[in-house]
Amino acid sequence: MKLSKEEQEMIEGKQGNAVKKSMEILTALGEIFGAEELVDVSSVQIAGVSYHNLGEAGLEFLEEMAKDGKTKVLTTLNPAGMDLENWKALGISPEFAKQQELVIEAFAKMGVITTCTCTPYFIGNTPHYGEHIAWAESSAVCYANSVLGLKTNREGGPSALASALTGKTPKFGLHLEENRQAKVLVELNAELKSVPDFGALGWAVGNKIGNKIPLITGVKKASIEELKSLCASIATYGGTAMFHMEGITPSKTTVPEEKLEIEEADLEEARKTLNDEIEIDLIAIGCPHCSLGEIQKIASLLEGKKVKKEMWICLARPIKKIADQMGYSKTIEGSGAKFACDTCMAVAPLKGRFKGLATDSAKACFYGRGKNSFKTKFMPLEELVKEATE
Ligand code: F3S
Repeated sequence: MKLSKEEQEMIEGKQGNAVKKSMEILTALGEIFGAEELVDVSSVQIAGVSYHNLGEAGLEFLEEMAKDGKTKVLTTLNPAGMDLENWKALGISPEFAKQQELVIEAFAKMGVITTCTCTPYFIGNTPHYGEHIAWAESSAVCYANSVLGLKTNREGGPSALASALTGKTPKFGLHLEENRQAKVLVELNAELKSVPDFGALGWAVGNKIGNKIPLITGVKKASIEELKSLCASIATYGGTAMFHMEGITPSKTTVPEEKLEIEEADLEEARKTLNDEIEIDLIAIGCPHCSLGEIQKIASLLEGKKVKKEMWICLARPIKKIADQMGYSKTIEGSGAKFACDTCMAVAPLKGRFKGLATDSAKACFYGRGKNSFKTKFMPLEELVKEATE
């Protein structure tokens, strides 16, 4: 790869060990994927924050990098394995909490903003259209490329950290305009009425076209919450890191020849597949993490009610702070529902604690089943609140 004078000095260790190691990671990645050069990034989102996934080896790597590593661009974190303040109430063990805190300390020492959310775009990590960024977390990557018009590959934890400490990423994949064109035209012939409907669309498209970039037509309107749900689902079930949606997303694409139709029956198949026969003992909302609008809606639905089942609402701590200020938290917690800030139902160590998860997220169904061996129910927010309170 062609390196600038500054990049050459970085890889020679003139800016310290963490930068040297980071440049080694980035150039190795670039060589593998045929990048000719590095490109500057304006923002980073790091995944691999839960001690549950990192383990001792991951923690040691972070502590080593934190000895002299400092972020060069705005960097935020994906969810951790626990609510950093309220972990006891959510049933996390003190042993796990101690190790998770060490992970967060290492990131904080490097200057990473320790907000721990998979929706960094809701809490101020919002670069401008067209910028190159290095984000990990598949749903946020898809949202960034598709909805915000940013350019990022789907980074792994170490490569995202390396980008944070250098401000660089290898220029290949979705950083190149020619790789951002749609490959399949997806014509939707059904009406989408709710957040789970967009999740069902992601399930159907993802299962049919894998990681090819689609141009989706036939969607009349879409809220940010619906797009967030689609991004999470399409990336989970197909692996694509980007889509175009006619009249809704900002990027331009040529119209591909390959064509696919999605009918109501395809959405119905998604709903059937994601609904098991099971008694629900955990209701979880906020995959990806809730927007402020969703919190406002949950508060109004829970007003004056009591939940009879364990109910988690997953969100970023800054959104929770606004909910506190507006009195939404009082209503929600007054009902007996619990906030899970900084974490979620998939990255927290919940295996064995619950059996049946009800959620409005197709992605949460996938990880609930895969990571925590839950059976799942997939339904809209209004029905989830009914399920919790009746
Ligand atoms: Fe976020 Fe956890 Fe879902 S990281 S996208 S809430 S699985």
